[in-house]
Amino acid sequence: MKVLVLYYSQTGQLKEIANKFLSPLVQDDQMEVDFVRVETEHEFPFPWTRLTFFNAFPESVFGVPFKMKPIDVDRSKDYDLIVLAYTVWYLNPSIPISSLLQNEAASKIFAGKKVVTLIGSRNMWVLAQERVKRHLKDLKAELIGNVVLIDRNKNLVSIITIIRWMFYGKKNPFWGFPSAGIIQEDIEASKRFGDVVLARLKQNDLSDMQEKLNAEGAVEINPSLVILEKRATKLFHMYGKFLTRKGGFFDEERLGRVSLLSYLLPIGAFILSPVTTLSSFLISIIKRKELASEIRYYKQNSLRE
Ligand SMILES: Cc1cc2nc3c(=O)[nH]c(=O)nc-3n(C[C@H](O)[C@H](O)[C@H](O)COP(=O)(O)O)c2cc1C
Repeated sequence: MKVLVLYYSQTGQLKEIANKFLSPLVQDDQMEVDFVRVETEHEFPFPWTRLTFFNAFPESVFGVPFKMKPIDVDRSKDYDLIVLAYTVWYLNPSIPISSLLQNEAASKIFAGKKVVTLIGSRNMWVLAQERVKRHLKDLKAELIGNVVLIDRNKNLVSIITIIRWMFYGKKNPFWGFPSAGIIQEDIEASKRFGDVVLARLKQNDLSDMQEKLNAEGAVEINPSLVILEKRATKLFHMYGKFLTRKGGFFDEERLGRVSLLSYLLPIGAFILSPVTTLSSFLISIIKRKELASEIRYYKQNSLRE
């Protein structure tokens, strides 16, 4: 059987997760696994500078597609499964992945295919996955599974460690803070999800993939982060419009507003996060049932119309 893995990883963290996750398939004689890195013509730098990092905000938020480098997929192969491995930028799929999903080539690659998504993000991915669900539906692909790995540290702690990692390329622990990103044990343990995918492929039964993955803890959702994410996304749209009024990605004219965002966003996160932790605790008591059904929805693959 043939599996295509489409991914974009900047620091290599997501690629490492994809390698571990897919290791049971790679090691199996009956499986052929092809990894294809997708890239936009514009190369996003790593480490980022303050301005390049925040300048990617509007196009991430609005899902503006960029020109892609040639997508190196062997069209003569009829893949049984596509694994779409992506990271999240500003609550949306990263620009390279969002661009892929809107690229002409994607309709040929994805049409009629079964897809498993693999997410490696800081901790807020729920609304990005909704966007990916929409793209996959438009591409006539069928989403059958989702596996999510996140940084399990407290929200504010992971904001500090990721900023240091993204801007200085330093991932190591410092001043009592843990190392940035997803912990190595979680990466190693993601192999168990690959075991599930392999077993389902071999039995030629992909019908209950998500159920089996969820039994292994593939999608854990923190209700307070969902509430925070929903609040943030509204603000992101407002601020995104404010930025794009001054021009597009390559326009220097908007850099003043980008610079302002680079201060406002971290300050906003530090004010909003504790407030939301408290309010979401209250909401989770008052709206227990509603929130539980919301979480159930995000743990599966259908798309709310
Ligand atoms: C510009 C940018 C914005 C990001 N925004 C989010 C976000 O909204 N939610 C989240 O969980 N992670 C976010 N992250 C973290 C990424 O999802 C990812 O974990 C990190 O960039 C490492 O991925 P890599 O494998 O590509 O190196 C962001 C990263 C970047 C570079």
